[in-house]
Amino acid sequence: MTILVTGGAGYIGSHTVLQLIEGGFDVVVLDNLSNSSQESLRRVESLVSKAIPFVEGDINDKAVLSSLFSRYDIDAVIHFAGLKSVGESVKNPIDYYINNVSGSLQLLDAMRKANVKKFIFSSSATVYGNHSPVPNLEHYPIGNASCPYGTTKVMLEQILSDYAKADSEMKIIALRYFNPTGAHPSGLIGEDPNGIPNNLVPYISQVAIGKLAKLAVYGGDYDTVDGTGVRDFIHVDDLAAGHVCALKYFDSMSGYEIFNLGTGHGVSVLQVIDAFEKASNQKIKYEIVARREGDIASSWADATKAEKVLGWKAKYDIIDMMKHTWNWQKQNPNGYESQ
Ligand code: NAD
Ligand code: WQD
Repeated sequence: MTILVTGGAGYIGSHTVLQLIEGGFDVVVLDNLSNSSQESLRRVESLVSKAIPFVEGDINDKAVLSSLFSRYDIDAVIHFAGLKSVGESVKNPIDYYINNVSGSLQLLDAMRKANVKKFIFSSSATVYGNHSPVPNLEHYPIGNASCPYGTTKVMLEQILSDYAKADSEMKIIALRYFNPTGAHPSGLIGEDPNGIPNNLVPYISQVAIGKLAKLAVYGGDYDTVDGTGVRDFIHVDDLAAGHVCALKYFDSMSGYEIFNLGTGHGVSVLQVIDAFEKASNQKIKYEIVARREGDIASSWADATKAEKVLGWKAKYDIIDMMKHTWNWQKQNPNGYESQ
């Protein structure tokens, strides 16, 4: 079975490509390398001792897509390609709608022409918006995303649901990731953000390695266990495993299905700092400052549907996530750039 992985050179994509190959799938990666380096795939190749077919190109490029689908006999598509920065999407919404929404439509159109009927989409907990009760359940209403990035995910879920209704042969799974973190235990692949990280764990890890002086903890007065924000951090290898389970589930489903991928547990910002310190033996300097605009107090998944239906459950805890993050950071202080 051959799987096209768009965005396969990126953070979650590279970990998933590794598990797909380990699971016996053939993989083709399409990535424009706008937020990644091909070095991630070279490292995956070294882990599996196998060459990975790679097409450097854009999901918005019809010619690239049609030649890819005619060259390879693709059975299913896992679609990671997309821009994901919340702040950037507020500044450049048009870029986000073109890249994420229009790009996904071009991809679906090319799949339709090539008669490819299985599609897994990287959605996000952000679709639950600002007012959803926790834990988030898949049937809760979505919308009111706090930024254009989130709105692209809401729009795409709607498009996918409409498409699955219109074509009874289409099988579509949307996986709503909570807060992905961690790295492969080898330390060979991991998260390599451009510039100063916006997300909590990459920021902490760059404080630990000495690249950044101090973490700003956004808000100490939320109605949570210790006043700081609470999130459902999920190990990237658990997420990758979720995609393998989803691919296997295609045989027993039809239409459109949504699954939360999270641990089902919330962890506060201070608890993450504490876990990182324990896992790394490093002290993290931090200061509690004002809340960040657009943040919510708490978000975590009800992940029972994925467990019951897909047979998937997260196996790593927050200490493992921090241990693997630190292992990756120590071995690759400049990410995939040569050191
Ligand atoms: P990432 O930026 O590391 O990976 C995305 C990959 O897609 C990159 O390699 C990038 O070069 C590529 N890409 C972007 N636009 C493209 C285009 N037009 N054509 C071809 N390739 C393109 O991000 P990630 O963290 O691995 O996220 C993967 C997916 O999961 C994204 O769709 C993201 O929105 C979604 N997601 C991520 C998170 C998270 O916190 N990391 C949470 C929820 C959902
Ligand atoms: C987590 C907690 C912050 C940085 C974002 C996107 C979401 C999804 C995952 C893609 C919050 C606090 C953070 C810092 C801090 N991505 N924090 N200091 O905002 O939950 O989710 O990434 O779909 O769409 O919105 O993740 O890691 O930015 O923040 O105190 O320097 O850490 O306030 O409570 P978030 P995050």
